[in-house]
Amino acid sequence: MAEDWVPAGVDVSRPSAARVYDYFLGGAHNFAVDRQLAEQIEAMTPNIAETMRSNRVFLRRAVRFLVEQGVRQFLDIGSGIPTAGNVHEIALEAAPDSKIVYVDVDPVAVEHSRAILAGTANTAVILADARDVERILAEAGKLLDFDQPVAVLLAGVVHFIPDSDDPAATIKALRDAVPAGSYLLVSHATADGQPAEVIEAQRLSGRTATEITLRPAAEIEAYFEGFELAEPGLVFIPLWRPDPQDAADEHPERIGAYAGVGKKK
Ligand SMILES: C[S@@+](CC[C@H](N)C(=O)[O-])C[C@H]1O[C@@H](n2cnc3c(N)ncnc32)[C@H](O)[C@@H]1O
Repeated sequence: MAEDWVPAGVDVSRPSAARVYDYFLGGAHNFAVDRQLAEQIEAMTPNIAETMRSNRVFLRRAVRFLVEQGVRQFLDIGSGIPTAGNVHEIALEAAPDSKIVYVDVDPVAVEHSRAILAGTANTAVILADARDVERILAEAGKLLDFDQPVAVLLAGVVHFIPDSDDPAATIKALRDAVPAGSYLLVSHATADGQPAEVIEAQRLSGRTATEITLRPAAEIEAYFEGFELAEPGLVFIPLWRPDPQDAADEHPERIGAYAGVGKKK
C-alpha cells in the first residue's frame, strides 16, 4: 500500500532524484527503489553521501551570508524534499521579514514543502520545472517583488538539465528577471578532479527521471555572467566560506561539486 505522503499519480517504481537525495541526507521520504539506486551509487562513489551533506551545509552557510548582505527575498528552485535546516528556517530565523518561494518538479517534494509551510506567512511552493522560467516568475511574483533584490538559489539542480535543454539560457532568463543587487547561487556536480567511478555513477543516475550532467568549472562560472562572484569565487563546496569552527579541509576536491554565489552589478 502506498504511504499516505505520496501524492496520487507518483510513479513509485522508478527512483526519483529528490527521494535519492532525501535518502543520502538521512530522510524518511524514499522508497526501496530509491534506496537501491542510492546504495549502488554509493558503492561506486563512497563520497557521494558526504557530497550531498556538504551541499546542504553550504546552502545553509550561503543563506546566512545572503541575509547578512541584506537579501530578504529567496527564490529556491529545485528546493527538494524538506529536511532539517531548510532555506526558510535559516532565512526566517536570521531575518523574520524574509520571503521564500520554493520550486520543485517533484510532486513528493512539493507536497512535503506545502505541508511544512502550512501556516508560515510569506512563503509559497510552486510545482514547476526549472526550465519553465516564465511560469515560475509569474507564480513567484505573487509573493516576491522583482523590483527589489532577490536571491535565486540553484543548489544541486542545474546538473539535472541536459545540454540539449540549454541550462545557460534558463539561468540567463533568471538573471535578467532580477534587479541589480540580486544574487545567484549555484552548486553543481563536476567531474573535475574526480576518479573514473564518478562518471559511471553519473550513468546510473540515468535511471531516475533526471540524469546528471557533470560540468567543468569554466562552464559553471559562465552562469554568473554580469554577476560578481563573492569571495572565494567558484570553488569545491567545502571551500566556500567554511564556518570558523570547521576543520581545514585537506582534500576538498573529493566533494565532486562546485559552489558559488554572485551579485548582480
Ligand atoms: C539534489 S536535490 C537539491 C535540493 C536542495 N536544493 C539542496 O541543495 O539541498 C535536487 C532537486 O532538484 C529537483 N529537480 C531536478 N530537476 C528539476 C527541474 N528540471 N526543475 C525543478 N526541479 C528539479 C529534484 O526534484 C530535487 O528535489
